[in-house]
This record gives sequence, structure tokens and C-alpha cells, in this order.
Amino acid sequence: MNQHLQTIVDFIQRDGNLTEDEKNKISQLLKGVDKELTITAFKLDRTEKVKRTTAILLEETIEELEQKRKAIEETNSALTISLEELKAAQAKLVQSEKMASLGELTAGIAHEIQNPLNFVNNFSEVSKELLDEMKTELDNGNTEDAKSIAADVIQNLEKILYHGKRADGIVKGMLQHSRTSNGQKEPTDINALADEYLRLAYHGLRAKEKSFNATLKTNYDETIEQINIIPQDIGRVLLNLINNAFYTVDEKRKQHNSGYEPAVWVTTKKLTGKIELSVKDNGNGIPPKVLHKIFQPFFTTKPTGQGMGLGLSLAYDIVKAHGGELTVESDEGQGTTFVIKIPDTSAQ
Ligand SMILES: Nc1ncnc2c1ncn2[C@@H]1O[C@H](COP(=O)(O)OP(=O)(O)OP(=O)(O)O)[C@@H](O)[C@H]1O
Ligand SMILES: [Mg+2]
Repeated sequence: MNQHLQTIVDFIQRDGNLTEDEKNKISQLLKGVDKELTITAFKLDRTEKVKRTTAILLEETIEELEQKRKAIEETNSALTISLEELKAAQAKLVQSEKMASLGELTAGIAHEIQNPLNFVNNFSEVSKELLDEMKTELDNGNTEDAKSIAADVIQNLEKILYHGKRADGIVKGMLQHSRTSNGQKEPTDINALADEYLRLAYHGLRAKEKSFNATLKTNYDETIEQINIIPQDIGRVLLNLINNAFYTVDEKRKQHNSGYEPAVWVTTKKLTGKIELSVKDNGNGIPPKVLHKIFQPFFTTKPTGQGMGLGLSLAYDIVKAHGGELTVESDEGQGTTFVIKIPDTSAQ
């Protein structure tokens, strides 16, 4: 029994004023109190143990959390490194895609340069002959004839200059295409740009694949004024869309023996506050179940080596960066239309 209680019991036992019965009752009560005290002490002890166990567990949990935090930190820095690497790889890929599309253009460019070059060569030859004639006329004292020959030569030289400049422009355009875009917008004739890329893509493909053929149908809205765009970027968008169109009509042509006429339409239209550019084909179309995937990077249905699946995702980003939108409508088996809408900056 609790020592203090025992003292009280002893004290009561010795008390002469209490009857035996009363002493027993009080002793009984005090025994009850003692029991309760024991139980409370036991409970206290248990609570203490639980407290200690909890403290230990808490310490362990804190340690575990600390370890996890460290692990997360490490994963984070690993992720940051991977992200950096990924960004670098993506930049390389974009550059290589640019070079690949430049490769696609080379044949077209060669074809385009050949034309002015032929002019330059022919006119130079003719002018040389004319100058020989002029010398003879001068020797003979025929100044009037010599003068008229000189006028012809001047005219020819003007033509040489004109075609030389044309070739120059084509080469400059090619360099611009391969150059990393400096992000500078400049006033651009969108009709001329669309037409240039259409012809380059067409002749490029024709040079690579002799059997390729398609009717080109263009409809340019002549009321469109110059708009502010990054020409080499929008050029790449057009090139991707046109090449995709050529690819599908050529696939369809190979599947059909006759009765199919591959055609690609390039149209520009001035809308209110916007310029619309569309590239339409009568190729195989895009199955509805993959239509939502075509703008994803690396989605391609082309055989390895023929497509990286980057064209449309790049196109999408470029059009977005111009504050515009790129949409698609496709009818499986019938054809596809891609529509670019960009702000008409000439209207502001
Ligand atoms: N005009 C189209 N007609 C039918 N399918 C198309 C057309 N344009 C795109 N697609 C589909 O969308 C896919 C993705 O096109 P995207 O231009 O992004 O990549 P790609 O042409 O396959 O490869 P890359 O452009 O990198 O050479 C194509 O593989 C094709 O399945
Ligand atoms: Mg493509």
C-alpha cells in the first residue's frame, strides 16, 4: 500500500474515539483509494512509455524524411541536367531539320537558278557578238549603226543585270532559310513567299523523283499588303505543309493505277484583321483516330528515313509565335486542308 495511506490507516487503528466497525470501513475505503492510485500510476507509466516510443518513431520519421528530401533534391538536379541536355538535343534536332529541309530545297534552288543563269549566258554571248559587229561598223565609219548596236547591248546588259539579281535573290533566300532565325519580323509579301516555296518544293521533289507529278493550283489574294512576319520561319511552315501534301498525293498516285490526278492548292485570302493561307491536297487524308496526334513532335506515319514527325509540331510553334493559329481538316481518302491564320499587321 501507498506509504502515506498506510500511515493514515495506522493512525486510524490507534484512534480510541472510533469504533472497530468505523475503523474497518475507513480502512476499506483507503484500500480502494490505494487501488485506484496503483492503477493511475500504472497508466502514467504506460503513457510515459508510449511517449518515449512516439519520440523515437518521430525521430526515425524525421530522419527518413530528411533522406527522402535529399533523394528528391538529387533527382531534381538530375532532372535539371536532363532537361538541359534535352533542350540542347532539341536545338540540334531543329537545326538538323532545317538543314534537311534545305537539302530538300537544293534541287529546287538549282532548277530556279538555272533559268536566270541561262539568260545571263545567252545575253552575254549575244552582246559579245554585237560588240564585235559594233567594232566593224565603227571601223567603217558607220556611227549611226554603231549607236543602234550600242543601244541593243545596253538593253541586253540590263537583262543580264535583272537575271543576275534574280539568281542573287534565290541564293540569298536559301541562305536565309538555313540561317538560325534571328527572330526579326520584317515586312513580307506573303503571296511571293508562298509561291517561291511552292515552286522550290515542287522542282526539288521532281528532281529527286522523276515520276512525281502534281497539278499546282494557286489562288493569291492580290489585295494583301506586306505583313510583318519572320519570312524564313513562315517559309518553313509552308514548306512542311507543301511537302506533306506532295507526299500524300504521290502515295495515292502510286496506289491508283489511273484515273487519279494529284493536285495541291495553295491559297491566300485577306480576312478582317487576319491573313489566311491554306494548303490543300486531294491525297489520302488523315484517319480520325490519329488526327489529334499529328501536331505532336515525332508523330509520323512515314517510313524511317522519310520523316521525323517534326514538321507539323514546328509549324504549330512557329504559327503560335506569330500570334496565329494552324488548323486542319481532313476527309479520309479524299484529302486534307491545313489553314494558317496570322494577324494582318498591315491593317494596324
Ligand atoms: N497532307 C497530309 N495528308 C495526310 N497525312 C498528313 C498530311 N500532313 C501530315 N500528315 C500526317 O501527319 C504526320 C505528321 O506530319 P509531320 O509533318 O509533323 O511529320 P512528317 O511529315 O511525318 O515528318 P517530317 O515533317 O519531320 O519530315 C505525317 O506522318 C502524316 O501521317
Ligand atoms: Mg512533314
